[in-house]
Amino acid sequence: MVDSIPELKKKIDDYLAAHLKTDVDQPTLYAAMNYSLMAGGKRLRPALTLATVEMLGGTINDDVMHAATALELLHTYSLIHDDLPAMDNDDLRRGKPTNHIKFGAGMATLAGDGLLTLAFQWVSDNQLPPAIRAELTLALAQAAGPAGMVAGQARDIEGEHQELTLPQLRYLHRQKTGALLRYAVLAGGIITNQSRPVKAALADFGAQFGLAFQIYDDLMDVVGTTAQMGKRVHKDAGEHKNTYPGLLGVAGAKEQLHKALASARQVQQRLTKLTGKSASGYNQFLAYFKL
Ligand code: IPE
Ligand code: IPE
Ligand code: MG
Ligand code: MG
Ligand code: MG
Repeated sequence: MVDSIPELKKKIDDYLAAHLKTDVDQPTLYAAMNYSLMAGGKRLRPALTLATVEMLGGTINDDVMHAATALELLHTYSLIHDDLPAMDNDDLRRGKPTNHIKFGAGMATLAGDGLLTLAFQWVSDNQLPPAIRAELTLALAQAAGPAGMVAGQARDIEGEHQELTLPQLRYLHRQKTGALLRYAVLAGGIITNQSRPVKAALADFGAQFGLAFQIYDDLMDVVGTTAQMGKRVHKDAGEHKNTYPGLLGVAGAKEQLHKALASARQVQQRLTKLTGKSASGYNQFLAYFKL
């Protein structure tokens, strides 16, 4: 049985609330890191890891929590830096003033640095078998670093000065958002020591889900509300961002979203065949996309 997303979110929230403080040794830095971390994120990335562990028959203990919630630290860093004046220049995140509005750009940069580094501490500083910790660490570095999320963010800001083609934009989205979501699902397979083909299918599901997630985020910037998203909407066009609705219109972007979701569902079925275990625990995540 897989926990519901609200149940997983509660586990993650409680774990983060209890464990950040012991690892930060400067009061303002802790306040800044804790502010964004506990501001009310959906926790979808660690929830995907934990749901995957449960689906594959693993149990969620403290060591699994430590390794899984590391990704939320890293994701929160990516949001703090994404919002900085030199990047997307946003003043609202998770329904609250952004980190740099509250603490200044210097401390916000350091809060991000602290969360990024602590994420690697958490995936490696736990009692999971050493080979699993090593594999998680490598996969997280590949997902988050200069061939993954950071590369996507670089394409994103450079793209403000040029119009990308659909294949280029898809690649950007796969990197800036898809890479961490791909890792989120893969991590559940690494933690439960799955075979290579199962891990490949898990990664594939996460990548399709991640592409859909960023297409949906682009769409919500156009058709969503600030209250619903907890961040400013109608911002991407003014910032000259390359987005799916910008390139294809709202209808075209929705069509691409449905394609990405159809691919994710195909991989979901493939996973069930490969593992002999139901992957229906992902349905609640696929229900996130409401249009
Ligand atoms: C926001 O991610 C950034 C994107 C990749 C679009 P989420 O929508 O998961 O944000 P939180 O964590 O719930 O705040
Ligand atoms: C994803 O892109 C951000 C990250 C990879 C951190 P966006 O810039 O569109 O995310 P939002 O809309 O600010 O959450
Ligand atoms: Mg951005
Ligand atoms: Mg942004
Ligand atoms: Mg966005």
